[in-house]
Amino acid sequence: MMGREDSDSNGLMTTATLACVAVLAMASVLLGWQKGRGGGGGGGRVQALIYEFQHRCALPLHLLRKISEAMTLEMTAGLTTEGGSTMPMLPTFVEKMPTGNEKGIYYAMDLGGTNFRVLRVLLGGREKRVMKQEFEEVAIPRPLMLGTSVELYDFIAKKLTDFVSRESSEFSTHAAAGARELGLTFSFPISQHSINSGLLIMWTKGFKIADGVGQDVVQALQQAMNRQQGPKLKVAVLVNDTVGTMAGGRYFDPDVMIGIILGTGTNACYFERAENVHKLQNGKPLRKTGSMVYNMEWGAFWSSHIPTTHVDEQLDAESLNPGQQLYEKMIGGMYLGDIVRRMLLKLAREASLFSGEVPQQLMTPFVLGTPEVSKMHADESIDLREVAKTLAKIGITRTDLHTRRAVHDVCDIVALRSA
Ligand code: BGC
Repeated sequence: MMGREDSDSNGLMTTATLACVAVLAMASVLLGWQKGRGGGGGGGRVQALIYEFQHRCALPLHLLRKISEAMTLEMTAGLTTEGGSTMPMLPTFVEKMPTGNEKGIYYAMDLGGTNFRVLRVLLGGREKRVMKQEFEEVAIPRPLMLGTSVELYDFIAKKLTDFVSRESSEFSTHAAAGARELGLTFSFPISQHSINSGLLIMWTKGFKIADGVGQDVVQALQQAMNRQQGPKLKVAVLVNDTVGTMAGGRYFDPDVMIGIILGTGTNACYFERAENVHKLQNGKPLRKTGSMVYNMEWGAFWSSHIPTTHVDEQLDAESLNPGQQLYEKMIGGMYLGDIVRRMLLKLAREASLFSGEVPQQLMTPFVLGTPEVSKMHADESIDLREVAKTLAKIGITRTDLHTRRAVHDVCDIVALRSA
């Protein structure tokens, strides 16, 4: 398999190409959007504030190029010195990808957003591929995202053990004797020293469990599972969700070279050649030959060229992780709704957007989610019915068309910058 990666080396994404893909792909969208954009907003003050917001969020091509260059430099710096870049460029110890020939029963678990998923899959090799799969999604109760790590891992281990114990005979006849093995997708920055161990660097995306940082997540989950009665699972592999996504893509298409997540958070990974990596880990070079998947953790990327507003500064200052994941806070689904909410609140306070009233609802953090913003952004009706409906759902009723246009404009600006 290493040979395969080597022979693919012409196709490997160089750091520069990857950064360009990430930043420049939306340039044409930007141009199209600017052309088709009409007026909007209520009174003159509303329009002036929206115009200023749009101006501060704008990403003309020359700025996108600068950001792309900055990302390339940060990638190189992150591969050269540990801690030398805003992006940690983490080695994953993944050197092979699935080929499609895999056979047997596999368990997987994915923890990283507001839900976690457990899955079992029966793979039948190149011909039969995915013969059967079953999965469950469980919402993580909010208190567990802010509690202790034992509480979180015990909750997960319990759900996982329940899931395994409901294994049908179709699966169990294929299970090898002994403990079943589990692939763990853990979507937070992890400092890995092997394929099945890794210390949590920090929580992101609304998790804040003080005693979890610095802990080996495989050990913590394994211990929690050992505390459970019932069928046993052994955590065999630990990967970031970007790596899991790339592996999932590669299972069906050998040309897949990058894994990108645009979800609650955002991140990317790709195969990097050993000769491009100069940093040491524990005083030792990482690898001298071949290639390995690197988890960029681009949610942590920063460059002074990225357009920010007072709204972003406020959101960051009031977040659970101020000063961290600044790029993610402009792109991730966790935050887009709240950027819009904050801007609407400003328009209500400073420009009487809602007929002089400041809707109480807009003072509740995260009352607007990204799905709502996305619905309002996609509203193409003349009277902006979806915008009216979405606002009504959070208790803001009887809006006039000017107000709805202004709301639509704010959603547009935030969505476009994120893209
Ligand atoms: C995490 C990454 C993850 C990304 C997408 C970020 O907050 O730091 O590890 O890949 O979210 O889930």
